[in-house]
Amino acid sequence: MTPAPPHDPDALTAALEILECPLCREALERVDGGVGCEAGHHFDVARQGYASMRGGASTATGDTVAMVEARERVQASGAHDGIVAAIVDAVPEGARWIVDLGGGTGWHAARVLDARPGLRGVVLDASVPALRRAARAHERLAAVASDVWRGIPVQDASVDVALRVFAPGGGERGAAELERILAPGARVVIVVPEADHHRELVDTLGLLRVPAGKAEEAAASIPGARVLSTTRVSAVHELGRDEVLDLVMMGPNAFHHERAALADRLAERPAPVAVTIAVSVVVLEVD
Ligand SMILES: C[S@@+](CC[C@H](N)C(=O)[O-])C[C@H]1O[C@@H](n2cnc3c(N)ncnc32)[C@H](O)[C@@H]1O
Ligand SMILES: [Zn+2]
Repeated sequence: MTPAPPHDPDALTAALEILECPLCREALERVDGGVGCEAGHHFDVARQGYASMRGGASTATGDTVAMVEARERVQASGAHDGIVAAIVDAVPEGARWIVDLGGGTGWHAARVLDARPGLRGVVLDASVPALRRAARAHERLAAVASDVWRGIPVQDASVDVALRVFAPGGGERGAAELERILAPGARVVIVVPEADHHRELVDTLGLLRVPAGKAEEAAASIPGARVLSTTRVSAVHELGRDEVLDLVMMGPNAFHHERAALADRLAERPAPVAVTIAVSVVVLEVD
């Protein structure tokens, strides 16, 4: 494995063009040890390169190290490449800023930045292990610790593409914050699981069932936005038992199951295991 490149402090400095103080909403600039606003609010920048702008009252901790590592292995396996391709298609040439809400390790945002050389990005996430990786994921990507339920530390009308992939931040409050940060003509790209996502595993392993209708919900989530497209990305993958465990333990099931217990149950089944990965990529556009 090649070592991760050092984080590029320029990505965060450049992102100050669209970030704002989460406490008073003033502009931010680089100050000793972090970033700060004119009112004197200070936010540390961690040694690994991400800015901590969560606000003291936030209790969100986000994904654990084990979840992040499982997700990295799944993403490296290519199982989600079809999802990335649909996301890239939705990002117009000429877009300047992408913000990935609950963007985890920045894997999707970095792939989009690879495909759009004029674009810069910000990953917002609550998970420290994810942010450590996101800060090094791409030279044009900044990473910011933030609780998306408590507001988005991004300036009004500054974002050309907002991305939300299997991540929280929906609902009325989420929609209002999203609308606030979107520039005229901006797009919102939302990836949600379909009801048959991981369907072969739900009964056998006792997993959380994905309710139907998430794509329709996403399509209707921003009042006044047009739906440009809803693309279903679906395939059956033949996976080894460890890959199945990664698929399960990278998501919310990790909060309800022990990996070892699921491994015992899987050991009774023949491998490889056929698993459906089925999502919808919903693309919205505002005026
Ligand atoms: C299922 S993961 C998806 C990560 C990434 N979008 C991806 O697809 O690789 C959900 C992400 O939301 C983050 N998260 C959970 N609660 C959050 C919150 N309140 N604010 C910001 N991020 C949050 C988690 O840390 C995690 O990285
Ligand atoms: Zn401030």
